[in-house]
Amino acid sequence: MSLKAIVYVRNPPSLEILNQLLLPHETVYESVTTVQQGYEQIKQMKVRGAPAIGIVAALSLVIDLQLKLQTFNKNPNALDSDILNMMNSPLLLGNFIRDSLDHLNQSRPTAVNLFRTSDILWKATSSGIKKDLGTKQIIESLVDMAEQMLFDDLKDNNNIGKYGVEFILRNGDKRISVVTHCNTGSLATSGYGTALGIIRHLYAQGNLLRAYYTETRPYNQGSRLTSYELLHDKIPSTLICDSMVSALLASNKMDHKIAAIIVGADRVAKNGDTANKIGTYQLAITAKYHNVMFIVAAPSTSIDLKIKNGRDITIEERNEDEVVFVNGLIKQDDTEKYQIKKVRVPPQGVKVWNPSFDVTPAELITAIVTEKGVVEKEKGAKEFDLEKFLMSQ
Ligand code: MRU
Repeated sequence: MSLKAIVYVRNPPSLEILNQLLLPHETVYESVTTVQQGYEQIKQMKVRGAPAIGIVAALSLVIDLQLKLQTFNKNPNALDSDILNMMNSPLLLGNFIRDSLDHLNQSRPTAVNLFRTSDILWKATSSGIKKDLGTKQIIESLVDMAEQMLFDDLKDNNNIGKYGVEFILRNGDKRISVVTHCNTGSLATSGYGTALGIIRHLYAQGNLLRAYYTETRPYNQGSRLTSYELLHDKIPSTLICDSMVSALLASNKMDHKIAAIIVGADRVAKNGDTANKIGTYQLAITAKYHNVMFIVAAPSTSIDLKIKNGRDITIEERNEDEVVFVNGLIKQDDTEKYQIKKVRVPPQGVKVWNPSFDVTPAELITAIVTEKGVVEKEKGAKEFDLEKFLMSQ
């Protein structure tokens, strides 16, 4: 079992992505050498989770550039003339980077991390061009930045875990059970995780009775990926269907007593409205009804101050096949390899709606845990002031 979704090496340059479509049964890493391959990995959800998407976009661009630079240095004649010209011209290199980032931005529309990464890399490129840097220097500055993103994400997740646990335990039981949704762990980030990072931290400190996690239809991030991570770490955990959460909160058996529902985020608007995996909104409603804390755990890079509230967040709609078919993995007779087997459930001709995310209104969120600290609403307020929070850091 491997919990590393992204394996990047600077020298010699290499990028490998764990194909999450084959988890939990097979651990297969796929090599990414071009922007287009990075785009496909994200689009097909072989890698997913807001932070991981942003990091893979950045790394697929830099790996593409590093490999071109390597060939340019060793054997320029092997490059086709367009690439050769580009390696000699910061302006042409800038055009390639701009087009690549635009393309990567088309892969998935909801998580802000992808767009933020693109902005950062593009600003660095245009400032390099303005400063008359050579193509090698521009590429190396982007490589440094992408590596830093990978490193910072892991550090931020550890801090989210620490702040989240302090907040959740601040004036209640010291042995608690929690519910989580989707997969927000090592597989969705550069390591450790956000909401799942809080659960890891609770467990490490001896504060966790049990983590309940939803299967998270239709893509089953919970039953395939969160299960994989929790079993890997031997964290006491129980899988439930998405429709069982209210019944769980209403039940009061010892380790069924839930102190908090903890989820991740794909984009948090300035007022705290939060886009996250479809099904999150209904969890927040049931948490409110049952007087259970509803915690959003996300790096500050998931906060989008340009978006005033959740109405302005674009929600990705995915292919109806994800709803219509149940995927399993079967071994082929003649090989040891697994293959994805799709089984159709509803009859032909059904109409399907498949939004991949929903927006939970700030009003239903108890607190937003970031690597910089925990944000709460001011007394009596229905919304968060995330601009004020970020400015005060
Ligand atoms: O469609 P996915 O699997 O990319 O959706 C993932 C989620 O919704 C996560 O909760 C979110 O990206 C946070 S991951 C740390």
